[in-house]
Parts: sequence; C-alpha cells; structure tokens
Amino acid sequence: MSKLENDIEKILVSQNEIAETVDRIAARISKDYEDKNLLLLCILKGSVVFFSDLMRKITVPMQIDFMKVTSYGKGSQSTGNVRILLDLHRDDFSDIDILIIEDIVDSGRTLSTLVEYLKMKGARSVHTATLLDKPARREVEFTPDYSGIIIPDEFVVGYGLDYSERYRELPYVGILKPCVYKK
Ligand code: PRP
Repeated sequence: MSKLENDIEKILVSQNEIAETVDRIAARISKDYEDKNLLLLCILKGSVVFFSDLMRKITVPMQIDFMKVTSYGKGSQSTGNVRILLDLHRDDFSDIDILIIEDIVDSGRTLSTLVEYLKMKGARSVHTATLLDKPARREVEFTPDYSGIIIPDEFVVGYGLDYSERYRELPYVGILKPCVYKK
C-alpha cells in the first residue's frame, strides 16, 4: 500500500466521506425500492468496491449481477460507442427493476448506452447510481438518478478506479501525481 500512496498527490475523497456517501445513497435506494424487485447491477471492473459496500447497506431484498463493457474512443474525440464484453443472461426482464451501479460518470456514454440497452431488453425499470460524477467531462446529456460526490476534472484513482489497472485497492479516491502518467 505505501508504495502506491507515494504516487498520490492528494486525497480527494476520504474513507470517511465515502462511507457517509454510501450510507446516504443506500438509505435512499432502500426507501425507493421497498415495493420493487431490485436487481443491483455491477459494471466491472471499477464499480466493484462501491457495489460491494453499497449492497451491504441497502436494506431491501435484491438480486445481484454483473456486466463488463468497454467504450471505444475513450479519452479522445471519437465515437465513444460502448461494446459489451460480459452480458446479462436472463429469460425474462419484464419483472425486474435494474439499478446500475457505477464508480464514476465521465463522458456519460457508458451509462446512457446501458440504460437504453437494458430498457430494450424489456426491464421494468432501469435507473443509475454513481459514487463519483465528473460533469465537466460530459459528452452526452446524462444525469444519474443517485449521485454521490461531484468531482473536478482531475485524474483520480482508488476505491475501484484505476490507472493502467493499478491503484484500484486504495481505500480512498486520490489525485494521481502527473509524473506517474506523463512518463
Ligand atoms: C470507467 C467507469 C465507467 C466508465 C465511465 O470504466 O467505471 O464504467 O469508465 O466513463 P464514461 O462516462 O466516459 O462512459 P472503464 O472503461 O475505465 O473500465 P473499468 O471499470 O474496468 O476500469
């Protein structure tokens, strides 16, 4: 852990702030999904930490499932189409209320595409929750239904978020030192 921490310029969202945010979002979800048939959907890999914390704080019954998607043209001006690498496999979507869990909304392409895709599959309802939201990077109009913390346009890692598949295990969200990615 200590080696990774040397690459962090500043802690942007502390463990305490994350825990409070998880509690706040979980309480709202628990209330809103009282009479629903909740399927909590983790979008791999980044959201796995938030997902795991959140599911243990939600007090209504749920099923869980996983998808993995990748976005073409990430970080560039190009199309930003979303490709599904791991899909949901169910015979019937008509009786489930899907809540997609993300670690971060950036351009908005992943979630806006996924919402349409799951509605097309026939889900009774599709909503979205994110721990972090970076509205300054939005490329398509998209507002998550449950949003934790608005963050500035900084290169953040930790609590599931990676740089080059590293730093996901940090227990907080930190700003990466530019020297790490400008080598
Ligand atoms: C990140 C994040 C979201 C997506 C958000 O995933 O977990 O899924 O990007 O970006 P967008 O709003 O611009 O679509 P990433 O593709 O980096 O994969 P990972 O979760 O496996 O790290």
